[in-house]
Amino acid sequence: MSDYIIDIEHLSKSFGQKEILIDITLKVKRGESIVTLGKSGTGKSVTLLCIVGLILPDLGTLKVFDKSIPDLSEKELNEVRKKIGFLFQSGALYDSMSVRENLEFPLIRHFNYSRDELNEKVETVLNDVGLIDSIDKMPSELSGGMRKRIGLARTIIMRPEIILYDEPTTGLDPATTREISYLIKDLNSAYNITSLIVTHDMACTKITAQRILVLKNGIYFAEGSFDELSNSNDDFVKSFFI
Ligand SMILES: Nc1ncnc2c1ncn2[C@@H]1O[C@H](COP(=O)(O)OP(=O)(O)O)[C@@H](O)[C@H]1O
Ligand SMILES: [Mg+2]
Repeated sequence: MSDYIIDIEHLSKSFGQKEILIDITLKVKRGESIVTLGKSGTGKSVTLLCIVGLILPDLGTLKVFDKSIPDLSEKELNEVRKKIGFLFQSGALYDSMSVRENLEFPLIRHFNYSRDELNEKVETVLNDVGLIDSIDKMPSELSGGMRKRIGLARTIIMRPEIILYDEPTTGLDPATTREISYLIKDLNSAYNITSLIVTHDMACTKITAQRILVLKNGIYFAEGSFDELSNSNDDFVKSFFI
């Protein structure tokens, strides 16, 4: 039994001649909240897609919940994916469905809940994200920040043990960025979720990160807390903090 819920060692991934990830070692304990910083096109999203088995690494080991992801069958992979939430930048909601229907959708697909159980679960997560009054609204009636909250509610309604956040605050104004970042942090501690956040947004990083990894040229170039890295002497690391 590994101490780590995500345990990656010496992972590499190239596309054609292009080496994207060269030697990635990432060990995450249950309940941790880790931010990966990196410039655009450095392989942050590729790393997340490897974790959910959508991209196959070339070399290295990649275990999640003690299971070697590249070795799983599609059926086994689906079981693992049920325990991993994935919040993309757009967090796209279905425009033709109400908030309630958007939230029920993943539950109906994967489980056989009664009407009462569905109502109870939808209401719980809407209370968690502070939007119970919007239950019967359509996505078009909501602000960008509210849509983001609903996207997060739709992720946590599955009760994931891990949530992967891909640029969760990109495109949001500073106030909404803070609001969403605090929500990520609060949900993390309320449900003991393990969070892996990739971003280049320092406001989000400061609020959510217990530990930060800086990705550069296919490796984790630097690691530390926000305070440690913000005092770094390295020009590349410093470039994120100005
Ligand atoms: N499926 C793919 N096929 C070919 N190249 C890819 C694929 N996915 C990502 N890449 C390339 O890998 C690099 C890293 O991509 P990505 O992880 O999306 O960067 P980011 O750090 O901005 O999230 C980019 O150059 C991208 O073009
Ligand atoms: Mg990306």
